[in-house]
Amino acid sequence: MRIRSFEEYQAAYQKSVEDPEAFWAEVAQHFQWRKPWTKTLQWNFEEPSIKWFVGGKLNITENCLDRHLAERGDQPAIIWEPNDPNEAGTTLTYRMLHDQVCRFANVLKRNGVVKGDRVCIYMPMVPELAIAVLACARIGAVHSVVFGGFSAQSIADRINDAQCKVVVTADGSYRGNKEVPLKNTVDDALIACPSVKRVIVMTRTRTPVSMIKGRDVWWEQELKQVTADCPAEEMDAEDMLFILYTSGSTGKPKGVVHTCGGYMVYAAYTFQNVFQYENNQVHFCTADIGWITGHSYIVYGPLACGATSLIFEGVPTYPDAGRFWDITDKHNVNILYTAPTAIRSLMGFGTDVVAKHDLSSLQVLGSVGEPINAEAWHWYDDNIGKNRCPIVDTWWQTETGGILISPLAGITKTKPTFATLPLPGVQPILVDENGKEIEGNGVSGNLCMKFPWPGILRTTYGDHERCRQTYFATYPGLYFTGDGCLRDEDGYYRITGRVDDVLNVSGHRIGTAEVENAINMHTGVVESAVVGYPHDIKGQGIYAYVITEHELDDKDADLTKRDINATVSRVIGPIAKPDKIQFVSGLPKTRSGKIMRRILRKIAEGDTSNLGDTTTLLDPAVVEDIKAGAL
Ligand code: WTA
Repeated sequence: MRIRSFEEYQAAYQKSVEDPEAFWAEVAQHFQWRKPWTKTLQWNFEEPSIKWFVGGKLNITENCLDRHLAERGDQPAIIWEPNDPNEAGTTLTYRMLHDQVCRFANVLKRNGVVKGDRVCIYMPMVPELAIAVLACARIGAVHSVVFGGFSAQSIADRINDAQCKVVVTADGSYRGNKEVPLKNTVDDALIACPSVKRVIVMTRTRTPVSMIKGRDVWWEQELKQVTADCPAEEMDAEDMLFILYTSGSTGKPKGVVHTCGGYMVYAAYTFQNVFQYENNQVHFCTADIGWITGHSYIVYGPLACGATSLIFEGVPTYPDAGRFWDITDKHNVNILYTAPTAIRSLMGFGTDVVAKHDLSSLQVLGSVGEPINAEAWHWYDDNIGKNRCPIVDTWWQTETGGILISPLAGITKTKPTFATLPLPGVQPILVDENGKEIEGNGVSGNLCMKFPWPGILRTTYGDHERCRQTYFATYPGLYFTGDGCLRDEDGYYRITGRVDDVLNVSGHRIGTAEVENAINMHTGVVESAVVGYPHDIKGQGIYAYVITEHELDDKDADLTKRDINATVSRVIGPIAKPDKIQFVSGLPKTRSGKIMRRILRKIAEGDTSNLGDTTTLLDPAVVEDIKAGAL
């Protein structure tokens, strides 16, 4: 399963295309199955219906925990670094993690959770978050982790969509110098969530919380009632492992569904090969477990490979902008996996902050979540990797379960801003608007996949048709990623960004429609249109054009902007707050009523010289007004 040279990569790639079933069957044999599969792959992209390792039985936690006990029971599985550097962290060996997962799995059972039930997890970045995730997997419950920055409304939407029976949360969380009242937010959400029968609350900040009789129980109290004996539930390879909500171009976030067998194989295979993980290395992925990156490369991928995974509770700039480098030195981090937005924000603090650190433990650097610009790539390479650590620019999505296009560390020749080459099993294809393949090199188009890999999403929870529509209907017979992409003369891939109405703000996916809906909920707002614009640190910023019922004077405009921001925070979460709000008298619409976003995007980018053809607009004068008031 391990690739060690570029020749081996080429051979593996070739085999994976010529005989995908034999290729993945070979990889999957490295895992522990209760019962072998009878058919490696059954698929069609029309329905779509995708099944890997058909008939195979397993439990992913046996692969992530039990099977390591004999050989590396005393090796750290999780190193936890708290928000406050002066607070003592924790290290959990594989044996300790196994014990705690089993105990908490018994807590879930005691509280009525059975195989197939959905459990919502809304927690800080503490080891208990990973424990809760794995405990669900242990008993075959489906976890739905909601990022701790989302609002009560967003939690409620996700809980109701998945009909979660139990919520696991904490009293609060620490982020930098802030204390975030998680349980209060859950309480607000639960006013509208009749499916929830139980809330399990872990103690973190000991901020006062309401504990509702008959519904809420303390994590610590519950643990006293259980033993550490919890055999793993036998799961079918295609049983649901988790749901993770993500934004698309229309409507509310969708629940992307991943299943046990294929996801496990893919997360582990890509972890091992992309990062060229070696035994006993310490892997530090700075993402939150609330996102797919945390699922695949903090929890499942590293643990399935018996690695040591570092969980960091805080933020990169607390207590100062050297925190990542402090952590790297303190825990001898070997692999650092972070987002371009973090790199760009740390660049702003200068190299003195970095120079105080040794960083000699680092061997591999990774980037994920958004395109990395050349300047950030070089800064990362020069100042963090000291030009001796390969950088893997990993392109993938919530829907893909694991990395699809990326260099293999130290094996694939890198090129700044390029995700380089597809991993074995991944068959990219570029198409034009009509779905016609764009062949050859030195071309660009819409990025699709021709063939399934084990980590591909299986459905969107409760709405298979939406899955088909979103990913498999645009170009029949292909999985459409929503990304634009360039393939250069060397056949290297560079992802150029979303071609749909999805924004990527600080590496977070946000649908423009979602933000518009939230803005429109504000009283006095008649209509709005949201687009992205280039932002030095966040990659993309959110630019909102808003029509209000009445014209506003400067003072009112200021207040209204703040109110709109408060509304968006309340409805979605602070990550979706517009960076710029421009009040306009009208929006550029075609005669059929469609907003011409192309024009709004140009104006937001500050490029008003060539707005293209505006003659099809209902009222071309609107454009002049908007241009005049641009921010
Ligand atoms: C973008 C995050 C360029 C892309 C793992 C994709 C990237 C979306 C890269 C998925 C990269 C992710 N280079 N763009 N290395 N990685 N993206 O679902 O637009 O949160 O479609 O998954 O992020 O975001 P998601």
